[in-house]
Amino acid sequence: MAKTKTVFVCQNCGNESPKWEGKCYACGEWNTFVEETKITGKTKNSRPGTVIAERTKPVPVSKVSVEDQPRLSTGNEELNRVLGGGLVPGAMVLIGGEPGIGKSTLVLQTALNLPNVKVLYVSGEESPQQIKLRADRISSASADNCHVVSEVSVEHIIKHVDNEKPDVLVIDSVQTMETERIESAPGSVSQIRECTATILRVCKEKHIPVFLIGHITKEGSLAGPKVLEHMVDVVLQFEGDRHHMYRILRSIKNRFGSTNEIGIFEMLGSGLREVSNPSELFLATQQKQMSGVAISAALEGVRPFLIEIQALASTAAYQNPQRSVTGFDLRRLNMLLAVLEKRAGFKLAAKDVFLNIAGGLKVNDPAIDLAVITAVLSSNMDMTISPDVCMTGEVGLSGEIRPVTRLEQRIGEAAKLGFKSIIIPSYVKGVDLSKFDIQIIKASKIEEAFKFLFA
Ligand code: TYD
Ligand code: MG
Repeated sequence: MAKTKTVFVCQNCGNESPKWEGKCYACGEWNTFVEETKITGKTKNSRPGTVIAERTKPVPVSKVSVEDQPRLSTGNEELNRVLGGGLVPGAMVLIGGEPGIGKSTLVLQTALNLPNVKVLYVSGEESPQQIKLRADRISSASADNCHVVSEVSVEHIIKHVDNEKPDVLVIDSVQTMETERIESAPGSVSQIRECTATILRVCKEKHIPVFLIGHITKEGSLAGPKVLEHMVDVVLQFEGDRHHMYRILRSIKNRFGSTNEIGIFEMLGSGLREVSNPSELFLATQQKQMSGVAISAALEGVRPFLIEIQALASTAAYQNPQRSVTGFDLRRLNMLLAVLEKRAGFKLAAKDVFLNIAGGLKVNDPAIDLAVITAVLSSNMDMTISPDVCMTGEVGLSGEIRPVTRLEQRIGEAAKLGFKSIIIPSYVKGVDLSKFDIQIIKASKIEEAFKFLFA
């Protein structure tokens, strides 16, 4: 017998409580409890979460056959790489991102380009006409393989899946879906959880891969509960600055591949373009040599690319010197300026410093420290750095240049892009430097790097 029960569910973490509470004791958030009605006591098998496609006997892991797991190429190199080599049958891929970043575009574009694969694109946000308009913008390819439907009821979606028998299912977005089994509004934690569990069960049974699009909250986490991330196989985050053209697809969780991978795209008027050489986006095209510009070999995920760091040091206009950064950590800049004052006689209190990472990228890689510090010095002394030189290295408090990760890839990328020399930390182990066609300068202190650059 089905019974209804009232519970209070934290909209932040999904924690349930029999009574209303001001503060969720599980996640510490305030005012997140919402009353929801739940139907319990249905059949045992309809419980979400306990999804097992086939009930089989346990076998030794060495005897499990894997060859019947062919991956479906998405026809998009960047997406394939982030997925770990393609779509796995029955995998549920959650794509999160801020509104307007291009999630629907990415998934629709992938769906249209999948050769000989039937895709069912379920949209709870847009009408088939709107999807058609978008499809016309993106591709000129014939899109007979992609079927679209506007639907929000999970029960109806499952019927469509039964009728259409698609090879790939797309749900745009999970926050708009609703199931009859739960009374709360679409987008609430229990609706999201129940809808996802239902779709998950169907796709695991039928071995259909699913792209699930999810929105992101103001705080930057996937809207809805963490439980969603536990349920799905792959969590991808689509991010970027809306005012810049590039987009980064980052793997946060992947049961079938590495989470170090990123894919880079550029948003054009005709959809997303794969960017296989990211340096082209982040190296501003400079015509003339200018002071205050340094190029760093940075890493995003596991991909090396070169970025341009621009600094401006000018005489402080007010008592308190100003510091302003775009794409870099302000506290780290302050630390680097203090090192610069100690080691290179930079008059910290007398200078305003502005720092910008070209292309609007946010970089957390500490290996760009050296380029930051030399860009500031270059601007301060009004001396240019040769555009053929790039550098990589973390700077310590005493001005020492510390080793960086994946040095080989960074040098390789610089050599590939035709730089003549690269400054690297002097401590190098296990890297064969002779194989690179680029002059390598080892520096253990920032003074050594400065001597080479400004001699
Ligand atoms: P969309 O995929 O609707 O974002 P999301 O589903 O994440 O909310 O993308 C919306 C933005 O992308 C929109 O502001 C317009 C832009 N866009 C382009 O620049 N080029 C295109 O070809 C398309 C389809 C969209
Ligand atoms: Mg959308």
